[in-house]
Amino acid sequence: MDKPRHLIRLSDLSDNELEEVLELSQRQKRRSGGGRLDGRSVGMLFFRGSLRTRASLESAVQSLGAHAMNLTAMSDFWELEEREGSVMDGMAPEHIKDAAAVLSKYVDALAIRPAAQGASWDVDRRDERIRSWAKHSSVPVINMESAVWHPMQALADIMTLREHLGELRGAELAITWVHSPAPASAAVVHSLLHSALRFGMRVRLAHPKGFEIDGGVLDEAREIATASGGALEQMNSLQDAARGVRVVYARSWQSLESYGNPTLAASGRARAKDWTIHEDLLATGTEAKLMHAMPVRRNVEVTDEVLDGPRSMLVQQAGNRLPSTKALLMHFLRNA
Ligand code: CP
Repeated sequence: MDKPRHLIRLSDLSDNELEEVLELSQRQKRRSGGGRLDGRSVGMLFFRGSLRTRASLESAVQSLGAHAMNLTAMSDFWELEEREGSVMDGMAPEHIKDAAAVLSKYVDALAIRPAAQGASWDVDRRDERIRSWAKHSSVPVINMESAVWHPMQALADIMTLREHLGELRGAELAITWVHSPAPASAAVVHSLLHSALRFGMRVRLAHPKGFEIDGGVLDEAREIATASGGALEQMNSLQDAARGVRVVYARSWQSLESYGNPTLAASGRARAKDWTIHEDLLATGTEAKLMHAMPVRRNVEVTDEVLDGPRSMLVQQAGNRLPSTKALLMHFLRNA
């Protein structure tokens, strides 16, 4: 049997495929056709919380005529062992390889949101959990946000950027770190950075000193920019990042210097509490709009004034998760 195609990161789609999926996303949004998936089924496995990804995927599956099987870790299935060759005399009674093989017999695709281990970035950056599901599944595995990548969010982000800006080539985008007492993973930023550069955007990546993103992701970002004609500029000033741009994209992420050390991480973040998005900052842009993958901490990451005002694109952006997810499902399941 042929190996299934998986979506671990957005670069798993070729340029032609990505264009096709984006075009299909718009058709799904306009409800102007795009097909059905009657009789198909999608297994959704959540190892940590979600609102948008879970609700939009379940809604997408149902509205295409397919069936969604939602399984939540620790309540709906056994604790899973993931180490290859392990002697399973501990807590976990089942191995990922067996769970993946069995679930592949019940559903036509598996969507997985793994939990990062959280102790060491050297370990988490390998994304072994999602890759293990993909290795042992005989149906397509769709990454619903791993430690490193969030392709479903990036697809909706590119769709939203195109709706707002039209042509992305040469357009400027500021991606900026914001303060949060409980930072998100950098997966959204990694996926957005690579996708925006792939479309030839000029990206300013701003964060306080000490919050540099993964070196491998950055190296690849520079290669993508060189290939596409895009540009990447890194800076340590929120004000410099926002000046003149039409879109500011805010996201918190953990410092890799203090990854796995909550006390050190909290003191690092405390030094950057002024990294918050407010009206005066966005007023320095060019009719600047705000994007954010959500959930968003009001009056910590972004002020109420911005979130409740005309600059916010957050609901449009989150809304685009539904048609873009339908398009992804059609792409992966139509011919599977
Ligand atoms: N943006 C996003 O993935 O939201 P959830 O974590 O709520 O799914």
